[in-house]
Amino acid sequence: MDATAAATLFAWLDREIWLISAVADGHRNGLIATSVSQESIVPELPRVLVSLARHHYTTELIESSHQFALHLLGADNLELVWKFGLESGRERDKFSDLDVGTTMTGCPLIRETVGWLDCKVEARLDAGDRFIYVAEVLQGQVLNFAPPLTTRRLMELAPISRLTQLQRSRHHQSYQEAELIRLWREQRRNG
Ligand SMILES: Cc1cc2nc3c(=O)[nH]c(=O)nc-3n(C[C@H](O)[C@H](O)[C@H](O)COP(=O)(O)O)c2cc1C
Repeated sequence: MDATAAATLFAWLDREIWLISAVADGHRNGLIATSVSQESIVPELPRVLVSLARHHYTTELIESSHQFALHLLGADNLELVWKFGLESGRERDKFSDLDVGTTMTGCPLIRETVGWLDCKVEARLDAGDRFIYVAEVLQGQVLNFAPPLTTRRLMELAPISRLTQLQRSRHHQSYQEAELIRLWREQRRNG
């Protein structure tokens, strides 16, 4: 297998950047994700597909509440990327210095984004390193008509210190996920 082929093909793609918030048992948290896509083309039955690493604190909250809110970020939401995408919320409240609303499902809502969707999990696949969720969109709102922030735009706008942090964090996450994928495959092989 040419291990670089998949990495090269995916490197050509540009992905939108989302902030996902969740709440469970009085604890709130959020993270940054690119693994978000539209799952239904039926306008009156909107659905999304989201893939999250199982070790993230936000994932734990979703596992408990089965709900989350998606926020599509814009180019002026860079600070949210650093706050929500580079640190864990286990030790501190990432929302503490933000103006936070609440969605219908009780998830934290950030209004300085392009828009948000309140979602309820309908199906979940355990893929070893990640949980893959299919969720029903219950409600949503477009707040600011602005082009979304994408991974390519993020790389253009990020200062060098943040680029280094991003690389470190990605490397660390990929190391953790590799172990889990191998273990999951082994368990499936052994029945
Ligand atoms: C640009 C960017 C994209 C990311 N995409 C994903 C993703 O799609 N899925 C995922 O599980 N983590 C993704 N992450 C990593 C999490 O956002 C990050 O590890 C976060 O700190 C987890 O926070 P938590 O443990 O407080 O939930 C991404 C991070 C960044 C900066």
